[in-house]
Amino acid sequence: MIEFLQNNYFHLITKNTSYIFKVTEFGHLESIHYGDRIQNQLFEGLRRKTTATVGSSIVYDASRELYCLDNITLEYSGIGKGDFRHTPLELLMPDHSFVCDFTYHSHKIVTGSVALKELPSAFGKDQDCETLIIQLKDNINDVTLVLYYTVYFETNVITRRAVLHNNNKNKLVIRKFMSMMLDLPSADYNLITFDGGWIKEAHKHMRELSYGVYVNESTTGSSSNRHNPGIILSEKNTHEDYGKAYGFNLVYSGNHYEAVEISNHDLVRVMTGINPHCFYWELNQWEQFETPEAIMTYSKYGFNGVSQNFHDFINHHIVRGEFANKERPVLINNWEANFFDFNQHKLVKLAKQAKKLGIEFFVLDDGWFGNRNNDKAGLGDYFVNKKKLPGGLDELSKKINKIGLKFGLWFEPEMTNEDSELFRKHPEYVVKIPNRKASFGRNQYVLDLCNPEVRDYIVKSFNGVLKSANIEYVKWDMNRHICDAYSSKIDHQGQFFHRYTMGLYDLLRRIVYENPHVLFESCSSGGNRFDLGMLCFTPQIWASDDTDPIERLSIQGGLSYLYPLSTMGAHVSLAPHQQTLRQTPLATRFNVSAFGLLGYELDLKYLNFAEKKEVINQICFYKKYRKTMQYGTFYRYNISKSNMINFVCVDPNKTCAILGNFELMAKASPSNEIISVKGLDENEKYTFKTFLQGISIKRFGVLINHILPFKIMPDGFIIRMVNQFYRLPNCVETYSGFGDLLTVGIGLNNEFIGSNYNSDTRLLGDFGSSLYIIEKENE
Ligand code: GLA
Repeated sequence: MIEFLQNNYFHLITKNTSYIFKVTEFGHLESIHYGDRIQNQLFEGLRRKTTATVGSSIVYDASRELYCLDNITLEYSGIGKGDFRHTPLELLMPDHSFVCDFTYHSHKIVTGSVALKELPSAFGKDQDCETLIIQLKDNINDVTLVLYYTVYFETNVITRRAVLHNNNKNKLVIRKFMSMMLDLPSADYNLITFDGGWIKEAHKHMRELSYGVYVNESTTGSSSNRHNPGIILSEKNTHEDYGKAYGFNLVYSGNHYEAVEISNHDLVRVMTGINPHCFYWELNQWEQFETPEAIMTYSKYGFNGVSQNFHDFINHHIVRGEFANKERPVLINNWEANFFDFNQHKLVKLAKQAKKLGIEFFVLDDGWFGNRNNDKAGLGDYFVNKKKLPGGLDELSKKINKIGLKFGLWFEPEMTNEDSELFRKHPEYVVKIPNRKASFGRNQYVLDLCNPEVRDYIVKSFNGVLKSANIEYVKWDMNRHICDAYSSKIDHQGQFFHRYTMGLYDLLRRIVYENPHVLFESCSSGGNRFDLGMLCFTPQIWASDDTDPIERLSIQGGLSYLYPLSTMGAHVSLAPHQQTLRQTPLATRFNVSAFGLLGYELDLKYLNFAEKKEVINQICFYKKYRKTMQYGTFYRYNISKSNMINFVCVDPNKTCAILGNFELMAKASPSNEIISVKGLDENEKYTFKTFLQGISIKRFGVLINHILPFKIMPDGFIIRMVNQFYRLPNCVETYSGFGDLLTVGIGLNNEFIGSNYNSDTRLLGDFGSSLYIIEKENE
């Protein structure tokens, strides 16, 4: 809901939040409040008062000595009129000065969302949202700044963006232009960012804000695994379930920039948008420039409150098409099973084993095309490698379909290798500066997506492959950062990174939207491009090349602050893990992947009979509860024990919940565990039951002799044989209770501590875990 009230107040209302600003006497937009919903319309009391002049400040207009822009909370600032805080825009104006002053001209309110011209954005029907469009003008230069606010009532999200129009016959140069800016009247905040790198994406980092500017950005050409564009600002004592917190994100897959400043008067300024790094854009008369869309949310229910708003919003207003809000399939991906070393026989064998376990999709990863036998050749040549697949993709997909699995395929459309037909024919297609030796990443070049001819080539070859066989899933990969940024097809190299991103969106439109029945999963060496821009096209993203479940708790846990579990690809792989050498139980590898989009990525021939039985059990469980796991309300926990992590997903009608309890390093004789279930209906009766999982007897080593009537060698023939067919069942606890009791907590049995081992002992140990099923009892 959007209201325009007396005294020029705008009130943007969502279910639980109010966003208020007003037009001042000089036409600036003064930000008044963003936070808890305010029912009445008497807003004057909320305003920050200025009744004294501050020494050394600039008075905007000599007629009003108390009006200093530096000390006003603003909606969008300019340069050169007295606001010396971090600026959201830096323009070389048509009058050749950097001074700009945008003031209110007009506004209108429309139902629904307003799509951007070239960039992806959130979408909402007329009944879901309203949009406020405010025109501001710099009258001296005849330049218009239009601010868009779309208010999504149910999900407590407001989206913001800005458009600049140059009406002046002289050109205007944009050096920096943020999508949104928000000033808050207090400085007592922590800033949470999600940072990392390859195989360590989205680790949560929290810091106390202090005076000055903190920047969270990417300069790699994509949103990056270094700093995700999503950030959270929270009051100091904020917890997972209580405390005031603001979340921000950007619908953009290129270089992004978020800055948070605390000013000398303890005002907080937050902004997000395209990174001004190497950015330069000229606007001639009648031209315009639109920023990507930013999204903001607020909750007084802590980090879980912010995340739940984001999750609902992304599931309903970002992810679109046939797969939105649809249960996602269980995949087998052959990458960690085969890498580049496969042929049709091996693939079919893997698919047959996968089918027996209950898997639904077979995904053929890298290596199926051109001369792609390692990562030094072949990218760009999307014709089948006949040595590996003599019958082509058509024959393979038919065989896979006959087995009863759907067939999916990997592409890396934005890249080429020097050793490829494409590069030999079209060396001019790559991003490279003429006469300068190029630098490489993973032995490959980036294709110049600023060049329409390159995009046409990619669309033609990609769509050609999609038509050549029954391909129902595509993994769209992008495996390097951009360097030597240069395109001969653009007016100014300051446009490069943004034009590349727009070229990418053009490709995605022409490939993803043109193939609506294909499920797309994007990937960029794992989660190097996990952002809302990609999610407007691909409903899911491969979260990380790191499949170690303990690392994944941080990666998926970090991503969960910003993105729903329905967007995160999460696979079970072999142990010891290929990147960490960590030995983890099969149950934990599944239990972590189940809090995401489950897949398997290993050579199934390495699973013994008992493990295969366990995988069958896992997949059955996941299929039964995947709706709850993928789309339920998700909660993280604040746990005082540093070695425990819990997650729970609760079905929207509160009839079912799945709780995961993960132990990192085991402690000797740990204190009793009480586990509380969040999000239930307190008046309903539930059964709380452990999901029965098995443990390899090899895990006990020589300790096995303590419970056997005779002695055996821990690694001897008998143990090896028994281990093939038998796994020790973990203890199952079952309790009944109303939601209020379960919220207080269930006291669990003791963990294994060496004494009194029996069938009631919870067997966890290092990296152990359990899932609990909480289901409403029938009357
Ligand atoms: C990237 C992806 C992996 C795999 C390889 C194939 O690293 O993240 O999942 O597809 O490429 O080369």
